[in-house]
Amino acid sequence: MSFSNVYDDTARAQAYATLGFPGTYHLAYRDLPTLIAEYVSGRRALDFGCGAGRSTRFLGKLGFEAVGVDISRSMIEMATRLDPDGTYLLVADGDLGAFEPASFDLVFSAFAFDNIPGVEKRQALLRELRRLLSPRGRIILLGSTHDIYTHEWASFSTSDFPENRRAKSGDRVRIVMKDVEDRRPVEDFVWFHRDYLDLFAAAELELLAEHRPLGRDDEPYEWLSETTVAPWVIYVVGRRERQ
Ligand SMILES: C[S@@+](CC[C@H](N)C(=O)[O-])C[C@H]1O[C@@H](n2cnc3c(N)ncnc32)[C@H](O)[C@@H]1O
Repeated sequence: MSFSNVYDDTARAQAYATLGFPGTYHLAYRDLPTLIAEYVSGRRALDFGCGAGRSTRFLGKLGFEAVGVDISRSMIEMATRLDPDGTYLLVADGDLGAFEPASFDLVFSAFAFDNIPGVEKRQALLRELRRLLSPRGRIILLGSTHDIYTHEWASFSTSDFPENRRAKSGDRVRIVMKDVEDRRPVEDFVWFHRDYLDLFAAAELELLAEHRPLGRDDEPYEWLSETTVAPWVIYVVGRRERQ
């Protein structure tokens, strides 16, 4: 399959550069400090699919020595411009060979897996990320639930894409971001929970926690579906040791 990364685009990188954590994104990051404090020890972090560095800077603020990697040159350039003292590396797709085994206590990935097609590629990447984990290291995957592509949200619309309802894991789905000027739909690959469980098992990873943040009435946002349907899921996984 030929696949073009919709994020390897200067306008998209510009939009992400100023995005921050508005609306529905607030829920993606709101509960992470608590989850990270509970499950992660050590300070060395890899931010896989760092984009314009929003997630890497977030890890830095939590006290991590974070390295951001991405396959998009425009994203890495933007991340470096926004955080000149940070470490951001352009990598080839699937190639994390620059890093020694067991180099990281936390491998964090926010939304990158929403862009990764196919079970083989996902499995191979998860195995590679597992290789980078220190013995008690954790991978935290933050991504979209399948529900995000079939509801309306403070920050997203999917009403123009009724075909999303028929999508199965690995199928392309489209969604429009309402918080940025660039209203071209983003194309993602949907992935259902049960298929994430299969991926973790195949990559010899053990699921330690899963969390689906919901919006609260006392938050200063105009929630649409957020108080009853979770737009995001956060998986915490560690190595499943070979018997
Ligand atoms: C939606 S952006 C999120 C960026 C950032 N993590 C954040 O939360 O703002 C997803 C990023 O994943 C990157 N990505 C997609 N496939 C990747 C791969 N195979 N390896 C590394 N990065 C990848 C894209 O280039 C894009 O910058």
